[in-house]
Amino acid sequence: MEKFNNILPDLKKAKIRTKDQTVIKREIFDLPAQVKNLGIGRKYFLRTYGCQANERDSETIAGILEAMSFTRVDKEEEADVLFFNTCAIRKNAEDKVFGEIGMLKKLKRHNPDLIFALSGCMAQEESVVNTLLAKYPQVDLIFGTHNIHRLPYLLYNAMMAKERTVEVYSQEGEVVENLPVSRFGKHKAWVNIMYGCDKFCTYCIVPYTRGKQRSRLMSDILQEVESLKKEGYQEICLLGQNVNAYGKDLGMEDGFAMLLEEVAKTGIPRIRFSTSHPRDFSENMVYVMKKYANIMPSLHLPVQSGNNDILKIMGRGYTVEHYKHLFDLLKKEIPTITFSTDIIVGFPNETHEQFLDTLALVDYCQYDLAYTFIYSARESTPAAKMPDTVSEEEKAQRLQILNEKITYYSNLNNQRYLHKTLKVLVDGLSKKNKEVYSGYSEENKLVNFTGKNIAVGQIVDVYITEVKSYSLNGVAKEEENE
Ligand code: SAH
Ligand code: SF4
Ligand code: F3S
Repeated sequence: MEKFNNILPDLKKAKIRTKDQTVIKREIFDLPAQVKNLGIGRKYFLRTYGCQANERDSETIAGILEAMSFTRVDKEEEADVLFFNTCAIRKNAEDKVFGEIGMLKKLKRHNPDLIFALSGCMAQEESVVNTLLAKYPQVDLIFGTHNIHRLPYLLYNAMMAKERTVEVYSQEGEVVENLPVSRFGKHKAWVNIMYGCDKFCTYCIVPYTRGKQRSRLMSDILQEVESLKKEGYQEICLLGQNVNAYGKDLGMEDGFAMLLEEVAKTGIPRIRFSTSHPRDFSENMVYVMKKYANIMPSLHLPVQSGNNDILKIMGRGYTVEHYKHLFDLLKKEIPTITFSTDIIVGFPNETHEQFLDTLALVDYCQYDLAYTFIYSARESTPAAKMPDTVSEEEKAQRLQILNEKITYYSNLNNQRYLHKTLKVLVDGLSKKNKEVYSGYSEENKLVNFTGKNIAVGQIVDVYITEVKSYSLNGVAKEEENE
């Protein structure tokens, strides 16, 4: 193996967007024997933080490790190699990871040969990598979101040369097809349709940690969906930071509507997609969603704020009026549709009145679910340089008021399903009660239910008997008929 030179991240470079056409690499994944056999008799542990893109990346990391003969374990203490695939979206996400790395010291004392690797979006940040190098000697390997395919060689170096190995590319490289994947779900699968993001919302670090937007070819995506269908997968979720911009970098207009229609035609039972940006959501998309029964009537449509001035400073590129128009059209055309959203409170200098506008929008949309966050300043983003007069107490109070409203509407919306029958894809036994099954309805409602002869991965009719704020309880139809 060649001598290894460390490469550290550089956020200024990460910001650059080139006009170069993305190169798609599709060599067959093949490893030299010594690398392939590295994991014989060795075990790995992998923990994922953050979004679905990271979950899907972890499935690739797992696939690569298994191709190197490593075996997965669920307990950190049993592992020879530990992986944390991290998220950088907010400071508290990072603090959690730092806390958990701190605890690894103890594990290393028990097992000095233990290798600890950190990957994902935190690895793309200069300040994080500098801190890890200066203060966390227990970290052996750092690699980023753009070079997961390099993992076999990096891990080999960290283990065999016994030296700290850091390789983070600041700019995206090729789209690498054909990487091995070990999917965590047996009946639900994530399918990447694009990588990166070019939106540069002023608060967000993702365009820096994930690089420029690169769409996969439609033919590659469809092939993946076809093979998932053959393997018996019931549900797929098409993934991208901004799925409605799919194909723009390939010169396509309204590429996502086209892709979604083709995916629907494969006949895979359930299709979801995430995340939709309101700015790029075409009206044509609404009609494609309406036309195909296997596109689920549930949409995550992040709004971030209900105030036009704040939306403008956030760089979101739409107004409250545009959002409401899209929302109304979707409701009109697809009456059973449910909505979830993301909202940030306490954006720099957000006034009380501007916050009230967000509450008013929540009253208008009456979301089924919302992920709500206090604004967190992120390295190198424009918003991090904006003066901020809102106190932390005020922000926390706004979040609480908002959350109360969100719970109220979630509960109210759920009442609609009482004494109705929903189609539920069975995930397995409920986490809380081992005699109760759980799964999601077409509308993306979490349903806990009882029943006989229930198989995981099956779609069953469930009669709803009780409604809670964030879940529904019911009985599988067969049992009721007996
Ligand atoms: N690409 C998706 C969102 C990815 S991040 C989209 O555009 O909708 C998920 C959510 O985290 C965002 O929707 C936003 O609400 C939140 N978020 C992102 N950066 C944040 C920050 N700096 N502080 C607080 N919340 C943030
Ligand atoms: Fe971040 Fe905006 Fe891109 Fe979403 S669209 S990932 S919020 S920059
Ligand atoms: Fe987090 Fe990176 Fe996803 S910052 S939300 S893991 S794209």
